[in-house]
Amino acid sequence: MKDKATQLIHHGYQAPAGFAAPMPAVHKASTVFFNTCRELRERDWLDKQAYTYGLHGTPTTFELEARIAALEGAQHALLVPSGLAAIALVGQALLQQGDAVLLPDNVYGPSRALARHELRAWGIGHAFYDPMAPQALQVDAKTKLVWLEAAGSVTLEFPDLPALIQRIRAQAPHALIALDNTWGAGLAFDAFALGVDLTIHALTKYPSGGGDVLMGSVCCRDPKVYEQLALCHSRLGLGVGMNDCELVLRNLPSLPLRYAAQDQAARRIAQWAQAQAWAMEVLHPALPSSPSNAAWSALCTQAAGLLGIRFAPELPRERVEAWVDDLRLFHIGWSWGGPISLAVPYNLGEIRSLPSSPRGMMVRLAIGLEAADDLIADLHRASHLLT
Ligand SMILES: Cc1ncc(COP(=O)(O)O)c(C=O)c1O
Repeated sequence: MKDKATQLIHHGYQAPAGFAAPMPAVHKASTVFFNTCRELRERDWLDKQAYTYGLHGTPTTFELEARIAALEGAQHALLVPSGLAAIALVGQALLQQGDAVLLPDNVYGPSRALARHELRAWGIGHAFYDPMAPQALQVDAKTKLVWLEAAGSVTLEFPDLPALIQRIRAQAPHALIALDNTWGAGLAFDAFALGVDLTIHALTKYPSGGGDVLMGSVCCRDPKVYEQLALCHSRLGLGVGMNDCELVLRNLPSLPLRYAAQDQAARRIAQWAQAQAWAMEVLHPALPSSPSNAAWSALCTQAAGLLGIRFAPELPRERVEAWVDDLRLFHIGWSWGGPISLAVPYNLGEIRSLPSSPRGMMVRLAIGLEAADDLIADLHRASHLLT
């Protein structure tokens, strides 16, 4: 008879096979057991039909990867600890010293910072392009990666993606095209059908839906690109927590419903805001007045629940911030896709690079799951601070 301490660890109970329930089980592991030394010796770190070590995946992470690949229309998906880590992995895995990357001028801010600091320090150049002027895009021979963002995460311009992709392919056939698909969430348009090579998705936003998980994905179709990404991912140790995967798996089934509800509410609020004298311009690609409306309507019927309100350049920052501070239903904070509406003021002059970029103050509103009428009443109640 073994000692109780040993029995508590080396127990013989096996749960009966065949358990079926709506949610997949959560398999948590750092160590994974092998049956024999030979199995351990012959392990293949990239084989998703087998298990090697928790960092490289358990049934829970493999299941979420498969579901995200399906959502994005890709063959392969890798999970990383945040959307920003997904952007960084693409650069680290696919670029080398002497290469260059092109970024849209309205790119997600930390991606700009990554190019200016880490990529520059590793000898990788970068430049910005105007996403709304595809005919002006110049891609030189050093450029090995071009990022697309649709819509831009703060100013919400929706570029002419087919025109941009065509121009990149014509000028630099060997450059890879990566799209930050966080805004479209895999629902608004089909990125791979348009011809991109890679997508990243901040699963932190819509797929998580709760404002309580940080996670990102990198998806692709080409097995060679996948191998490059997966080997780098494995060497960098970019595993994700299985409880976080559980939360995303739990919320994925309601993603299309949440996306549609937030879209409808954001459009109602955008239309209302357009009629307010204090709003100089409302930024939302579905508005017929938006310079992006033609490009958006050519590909999409849906949009993320985000809008921007631009103010007259003479309106001081303090007044805009006082309005945001006074909102009761909108909390002040970054991100989107969660249940609570969020507001963030931006000084456009501080977040753009090209001389042609807009200037002045704007506020980005991320619409949650509250009733749109209540959100409008909140925005209206505080608006005397703007006039
Ligand atoms: C467009 C876009 N991409 C990527 C990210 C990064 O996601 P995470 O917050 O998970 O790092 C964000 C976050 O705000 C984003 O807005």
